[in-house]
Amino acid sequence: MAVALIILAAGKGSRMKSDLPKVLHKIAGAPLLVHAMKSGASLEPEKTIVVTGHGAELVEAAARDWSDDAQVVLQSEQLGTGHAVLQAQGALDGFEGDAIVLYGDTPFIQAETLEAMIAARAENDVVVLGFDAADPGRYGRLVMQGDALDAIIEYKDADDTTRAITLCNSGVICAKSDVLFDLLDKVTDENAAGEYYLTDIIGIARAQGLSATVVRCNEAETMGINSRAELAVAEVAFQTRARSDAMENGVTLQAPDTVYFSHDTYIGTDAIIEPNVVFAVGVTVENNATIRAFSHLEGCHVSRDSVVGPYARLRPGAELAEGVKIGNFVEIKNASLDAGSKVNHLSYIGDAQVGERTNIGAGTITCNYDGVFKHKTTIGADVFVGSNTMLVAPVTLGDASMTATGTVVTRDVPDGDLAVGRARQENKAGFARRMFEKLKSKKAEAAKET
Ligand code: UD1
Ligand code: CA
Repeated sequence: MAVALIILAAGKGSRMKSDLPKVLHKIAGAPLLVHAMKSGASLEPEKTIVVTGHGAELVEAAARDWSDDAQVVLQSEQLGTGHAVLQAQGALDGFEGDAIVLYGDTPFIQAETLEAMIAARAENDVVVLGFDAADPGRYGRLVMQGDALDAIIEYKDADDTTRAITLCNSGVICAKSDVLFDLLDKVTDENAAGEYYLTDIIGIARAQGLSATVVRCNEAETMGINSRAELAVAEVAFQTRARSDAMENGVTLQAPDTVYFSHDTYIGTDAIIEPNVVFAVGVTVENNATIRAFSHLEGCHVSRDSVVGPYARLRPGAELAEGVKIGNFVEIKNASLDAGSKVNHLSYIGDAQVGERTNIGAGTITCNYDGVFKHKTTIGADVFVGSNTMLVAPVTLGDASMTATGTVVTRDVPDGDLAVGRARQENKAGFARRMFEKLKSKKAEAAKET
């Protein structure tokens, strides 16, 4: 059956003390909302509806940025979770399938868990995701009768017997779309909070003779983020999992606790990651590559057998072919380096194309920016770029050409030519010795006077 996701993301998140809506705070480089959308995407939903409220425009932009298909609806007043879900009714008019309610501030629900809920839905009218809480606190309590779910009672409305129940509501609910909205139409705000509770649909469904049940998951999956401290805990949880997944998949991490991944990092088998490496968003590292200590990578692709770092920075658009070497204190931005090329020390290569087997000497800089425009540097194959070459773009070095150390290249260099552009050296006989003597005697005079 077709699936629609309804993702609630209208809340302000006052405890974040932020100008940014809560669901746009990031873990592993992606907004909380995107994590929720990603877990829902595993169900290949036909529709994704995001319910926005606080910071609606920003939340909408983030939702669209992740998925063109996302539809956004506005809940202009936050009157409760039931009211929030009702805002999606128009968008799902005529939709014949299951609707599943997720939360923009709950990033860790696993694909398998959602699949289990959809499977249980085939046998039950309403399915709720529950968990055994170590500390049930203020969660809604799941009142069971055997395998059937009888009601969800919110903490504020619960008596002591109900509060003693440790099986709690994660908030994630699945029902056929039309059934969900029929039930929601009957929800009122007559309760301790004066809110329209989504959770009330269980009692209403049961009173109508519909069936409800619970799928259980690990408590860690249901973690919601309400504060900066919880955001930090979530980041740690993500990183812990990403590190163990990487090792599970055949990546060597020499000091796992010091390596940071993004939500979309891909690393191939037999890659070796040394300590203190950061993978910002959009990084792909192929098999057998080595990323040496203290390197920072973002928006780049590292092919097989390449070695990056230590202390290297690969910025967006860095594209390394097989067996490329990028050494210490080298920055690469929007540049592709063909197979076997080397930039080993202290260089900046930006807006450039570098051919196969080319060697770029220490301290080389592509002067790509004139203060207004960016310009391209093209370097052929088998080129030897001498140390401290300034390549004033736009400029081209032909195949098998060479630049002399210290050259400022302002004109294209044809294939096979040498470019020399520096002042000719002159040696002045004995000058240094005489100069030193003069300076030393000056120093001695000064010492006598004090
Ligand atoms: C809700 C559940 C509770 C469950 C808990 C799990 C209800 C009535 N209660 O309680 O049983 O144990 O989640 O965390 O559903 N939201 C909107 N619009 C609104 C209200 C809420 O978009 O009008 C969003 C919030 O931004 C938040 C989520 O829905 O992301 C949950 O709302 P919240 O008020 O935090 O519900 P809880 O009291 O935590
Ligand atoms: Ca909550």
